[in-house]
Amino acid sequence: MPPAVDGERLWRSLMDLAEVGAIAGGGVRRLALSDEDRRGRDLFARWAREGGCSVRIDAVGNLFARRPGRDPSRPPVVIGSHLDTQPNGGRFDGAYGVMAGLEIVRALNDAELETDAPIEVVAWTNEEGTRFAPSMMGSMAYAGLLPLDAVLGSRDAQGLSFGDELERIGYRGAGLGGDPIGAYFEAHIEQGPVLEETGHTIGVVTGGQGQRWYDLVLTGQAAHAGSTPMDRRRDALLGAARVIQAVNRIGSAYPPGGVATVGHLAVSPDSRNVIPGGVSMSIEIRHPDDARRERMDAAVREAVADAAARGRLHARLDVVLDQPATPFDAHCVAAVREAARVERLTHLDMVSGAAHDAIAIARVAPTAMVFVPCAGGISHNEAESASPQDLAAGCRVLMRAVLGRAGGASRKR
Ligand code: GLV
Ligand code: MN
Ligand code: MN
Repeated sequence: MPPAVDGERLWRSLMDLAEVGAIAGGGVRRLALSDEDRRGRDLFARWAREGGCSVRIDAVGNLFARRPGRDPSRPPVVIGSHLDTQPNGGRFDGAYGVMAGLEIVRALNDAELETDAPIEVVAWTNEEGTRFAPSMMGSMAYAGLLPLDAVLGSRDAQGLSFGDELERIGYRGAGLGGDPIGAYFEAHIEQGPVLEETGHTIGVVTGGQGQRWYDLVLTGQAAHAGSTPMDRRRDALLGAARVIQAVNRIGSAYPPGGVATVGHLAVSPDSRNVIPGGVSMSIEIRHPDDARRERMDAAVREAVADAAARGRLHARLDVVLDQPATPFDAHCVAAVREAARVERLTHLDMVSGAAHDAIAIARVAPTAMVFVPCAGGISHNEAESASPQDLAAGCRVLMRAVLGRAGGASRKR
């Protein structure tokens, strides 16, 4: 029998962590490398040390808490997710995966159990990609998918650099990746409606869909809104509106699984009586099938070229993230499925619609994920909600999967 997970303690930790950066409506704003991120990290690091873990920080601020194993030569079994949030984020996205890892450490401690392999709980830096793009920065850098210079040199909308901000909050460490990981497991809320609507408690995640993120800058001509005739205008915002419509159509044209979004737009000069001369905006497309995602990409490029031609605009389209569809390790996935079965929990195989650090780590280590339902499938929203019972159930599944890889827990001698 694995040691008992304390669902109440897990819930309390999540609620205490949610106080850091709490916003109206029950949400959390803990942007990567902000003061709130620092305080969230400090709290997690303190809890991990109190749980007997040693804490290490790498060159991009990924924070590892290690519980030693009986055999220090074995690579650790790593459990984790992220502590940063969206601007109007919820209490569970990311936080659940880190707190579930901590709960596993605490439960093993309570039962005085030792595993063969060390267990490491990790909080990856900047999973959300909202302040510094792209998403999954810490885990992608760890996996060698993003160069260290690109990460440290990345700038937020205020022009502040990732490297300076990491230094400022005191989380710039040394070393990056290269250490073998025995297996990586991440627990997360589903962030979609499927588990709730189909009445399943556990999502057995078989992989992540592919995605591509773009920055688009449209340039026309700023001019007087009263004296410039309609047929003379080079209105960048009108061009952006055409692109937004097209992106939405492209998302709908690739079922099942295709999605496409414009989530950010900045208008210049942003004055009500000036024709907008410039727009900078984001576009993202996602699809579980890479060949179909390529077709969506072609459609996006065509839509941008068409909007530029119609509005006599200059368009610059840059790809800022390109993540292929990523299957998880068959053995790790089977371990999650078996754990759900043994726990007598209803479970469903599914592909993740959202991005996760697990998708980056899957490129360098055997990986799988555990999903639990969230109310109404709502996430990236302060109203995000999950039940203590489902969160505890997901943690029990995680515990079994982790112990299966870390080697039979037995009493410390
Ligand atoms: C992050 O949560 C993403 O899916 O983009
Ligand atoms: Mn997340
Ligand atoms: Mn998120």
